[in-house]
Parts: sequence; structure tokens; C-alpha cells
Amino acid sequence: MQKEVKKITTKVLQEMKIRGEKISALTAYDYTMAKILDEVGIEIILVGDSASNVICGYETTIPMTLEAMIYHGKAVVRAVKRALVVIDMPFGTYQGDSLEALKSAIKIMKKTGASAVKLEGGEEVKDSIKRIISAGIPVMGHLGLTPQSIHKFGSYAVRATNQNEAEKLINDAKLLEKLGCFAIVLEKIPAKLGEQISRILSIPTIGIGAGSKVDGQILVLHDMLGLTTDFSPRFLRRYLNLYDLIKIAIKNYINDVKNLNFPSEKEEY
Ligand code: KIV
Repeated sequence: MQKEVKKITTKVLQEMKIRGEKISALTAYDYTMAKILDEVGIEIILVGDSASNVICGYETTIPMTLEAMIYHGKAVVRAVKRALVVIDMPFGTYQGDSLEALKSAIKIMKKTGASAVKLEGGEEVKDSIKRIISAGIPVMGHLGLTPQSIHKFGSYAVRATNQNEAEKLINDAKLLEKLGCFAIVLEKIPAKLGEQISRILSIPTIGIGAGSKVDGQILVLHDMLGLTTDFSPRFLRRYLNLYDLIKIAIKNYINDVKNLNFPSEKEEY
């Protein structure tokens, strides 16, 4: 008999925060990786618009389209039995007006079967967040370094290092909680601020470069597996060096083909 899987819901994440149990999250963009992540017990799988960088090779996340996010989202959802799947709303699909935002979010939810969407920003996008949540779609916020606004800020430096920016970030975080977001990603901010916000809020905070005193952590899968090599912020821990390992495997394959070592008799019909 198959064991019944207890699905991770936004309520489960909330309970984890109350218990003080840390939440683990990673990005995924395809079926095979999502299946591995889910099988080992990750709580949140984010279909991030970082697909723009690590899958498509763009410099920023700006070119990502709704169709592309839906394509990746569908593949991930097909693999997942337990984790909460969250899909990033790409640049240009929610900043214009709240009705457009709602339509984009509905499209994502209907076509992928995911459980939630994520979007970047605070006060500036409050109408969109409000409208999406009032349609019954769970929203994850994203504050601090918001890569879709890279051209406004001009760099990927640590955010909210001065009093004014820190105050705005705290106010935005409170606002997102008030609007009904179920969690907030805090990207590249001082650890002390990450801790302060996590203490103030009753919803979970998920940090990426926000220190250890937030409620959970997220990394981009290709970065933590060492598939990417040219991105090395301080917060990134590489758990593997897949770039080199894959190169070794492919080189061995090429040699075997050239030297008639592959296929062997055992590998023939
Ligand atoms: O797109 C993404 O991968 C993200 C994470 C960095 C949180 O937003």
C-alpha cells in the first residue's frame, strides 16, 4: 500500500514558523530536478524567474515571459507530490495594473496547477497583491534585492544598509503581511534586519542572503549545485561542483566513443 503524502500547504509553513522549525526552499525549473527535490523533503519549490539566467542565459530576469514561466511550472508540478510549488510572476505581468496582475496570476494557477505565486515589491504593487489574494490565490512577497528592478537600482549590492531603506523595508514587510501574503522572500539584506523583520512578522520569512535568523532559506538550485560558476555572492554555499563533474563525465564519454570503448558488447542488442 502506498503511504499517503502530507502536502505542504501555506498553513503547514505557518505552523513551522510557530514551532521554530526552519523551512527549506530551492528553485527548480524542470520535472527531473523537481522530483529529486520533492523526494528528499524540500518544503517549497520555487519556479523562479531566475530561469531567465540559469536556463536561458539572459543577464537579467527581465526577458522572462508568462508563457515561459507556465511551461516550467507545468513540468515542475508534474513531478511534485509533497512540496508547495510557487511560481514567479515575470516582469511586466503585474506592475501595470491590478486587473492585469489578477489575470496573469489566474493564468499561472489554471495552466500549471501550482499552489501559489510570488511577486516582487511592496507598497508599489499593493493593489495587485490585494486583488490576487482576494481571488483566493496565495501570494509570496519578495523584498530587499528585487532582481526585476535591477535597472532602477543599477547594481546587485546589499540592500537596505541605511536607516531610510531599512525603515521602508520593514514597512513594506508589515504591509505585505497585512495584505495577506503567506510568506516573504528577503533577498540580500543585512542579517540584523532579516532577524528584526522575522521577529516582527507572524508569517514566515525565507532568506537568500538575509542571515540565519530568518524562518527559512532559499537558494537557486543551479548555483548551490555548482552548475553555474560565474556567480559567487557571499551568501551562496555550493554543495557540489557539478560543472566540473559533468565536464569529466562528458569528456570520458567522448573518449570512449572515439576509442571504441562505448558501446561494449553488453550494451548491444
Ligand atoms: O527567481 C528566483 O530564483 C528567486 C529566488 C532568488 C528567491 O526569486
